[in-house]
Amino acid sequence: MNMKKIKIGLLGCGTVGSATYEILQMNADKIAQKTGVIIEVAQVFVRSMEKNYPVPKRLLTTNFQNMLDNPELEIIVELMGGIEPASTYMLQALKAKKHVVTANKAAVAAHYADLIQMSAENQVMLRFEASVAGGIPVLDALQAPLNSNEIEEVLGIVNGTTNYILTQMIESGKSYETALKLAQEKGFAEADPRADVEGIDSANKLSILLALAFDEIVPVETIPTSGISQLKSVDIKQAGDLGYKIKLLVRGKKMEGSLQASVQPMLVPKDHMLAAVSNEFNALLIRGNAVGDLLFYGRGAGGLPTASAAAGDIIEIANAIDKNAAFDTYVNKLSQSQLIFSGEGENAYYVRLTGQNRPGTLGHITSLFGKNDISIESVTQVAKDECASIVFIIHEIAREKLDRAIRKILNLDDVLSVDCILSVIT
Ligand SMILES: NC(=O)c1ccc[n+]([C@@H]2O[C@H](COP(=O)([O-])OP(=O)(O)OC[C@H]3O[C@@H](n4cnc5c(N)ncnc54)[C@H](OP(=O)(O)O)[C@@H]3O)[C@@H](O)[C@H]2O)c1
Repeated sequence: MNMKKIKIGLLGCGTVGSATYEILQMNADKIAQKTGVIIEVAQVFVRSMEKNYPVPKRLLTTNFQNMLDNPELEIIVELMGGIEPASTYMLQALKAKKHVVTANKAAVAAHYADLIQMSAENQVMLRFEASVAGGIPVLDALQAPLNSNEIEEVLGIVNGTTNYILTQMIESGKSYETALKLAQEKGFAEADPRADVEGIDSANKLSILLALAFDEIVPVETIPTSGISQLKSVDIKQAGDLGYKIKLLVRGKKMEGSLQASVQPMLVPKDHMLAAVSNEFNALLIRGNAVGDLLFYGRGAGGLPTASAAAGDIIEIANAIDKNAAFDTYVNKLSQSQLIFSGEGENAYYVRLTGQNRPGTLGHITSLFGKNDISIESVTQVAKDECASIVFIIHEIAREKLDRAIRKILNLDDVLSVDCILSVIT
């Protein structure tokens, strides 16, 4: 049988680019057998012709315009990373009526509306499954398989670097600095780890999740975001003693017409599904009003897992081209949202503070919490010499209300400092 050949161009040939090439070669027969099309990598855009890439040299080009002008290329697969020039290249490719696949969460989150609009205007597809949770098909799941559901919540761990660091702190008692160094040695953290440890990478992914789960474009810079670089071993230990593990979580939650979203380290009860997700693994819990809770678990990064998602997108598009199907763009769904973005919403909290080790300190603090309508679930006090370390778990409350009470508590004579406030999953 004469199979249709679909030619694609790769932008970038690093970890994910070379792994995508590898999958398409390794599983070429299987892909052809299953889909009835042959997918051929016809050009690879790189920065230097001198460097050794694991693809035949004849495929390399350093001229992007070359690829744009090549009428044979039907799909452009952007695997360079960074917001620019990747975003501009993707917009140009869509405008040239080429379908686009990308793994680039920073570019997709920064230019979501423009990219979607450009794909719709030119009736070509844009797919970015690999941009969130690597090899785990969470974005796809939020489409057709869950279309009959109202999505109520997405909650999860979408950054393997920080989960690896936290696992080392929790299980081996390492300090943040030692755990980060180990993550860098093992290749789980970049030399410059800021995007991961400050929660920016997770916020980019959450912004994309919010668009697909709730049809809502929430700019990354408006998502309340905090990372793990300020976390102290003492809080990992205290949380553990109270029955929790600290995880860097992304959360998007629909509440009575509003949408709450945040990226922050949170206390997760040890018997919660997400507490069992260790090391570099990712997991996302999706709650639908019909299906209930679904947990997606797996490798959120790495060459082959991420390339598996990119290759899946390429095959979906190749199938649509082969069948002359209408190209599905996401644009119509976005205009439907009526939700008001309301930041972080209400949470339970872990509060650790240091007070004078003398009679009355605890009473003064609890009475101030009471006067401010803040209800305490538990309190633990460890006294050492002149100081006492006091940890409260506070019932659900708006953060502004807690902050108002904390300001008053800091004015008490017997309180020395408020050392840590973290949200708690209940
Ligand atoms: N690695 C993962 O586990 C992972 C997981 C999920 C998503 N992603 C996403 O996948 C994308 C690629 O990541 P990666 O880890 O494969 O990165 P990488 O190993 O650094 O590879 C990037 C490739 O793109 C090329 N490149 C970068 N900027 C370029 C430019 N301006 N012009 C031409 N070529 C350029 C690089 O060229 P040189 O070879 O000359 O440096 C390199 O070949 C990123 O968006 C990343 O966020 C990665």
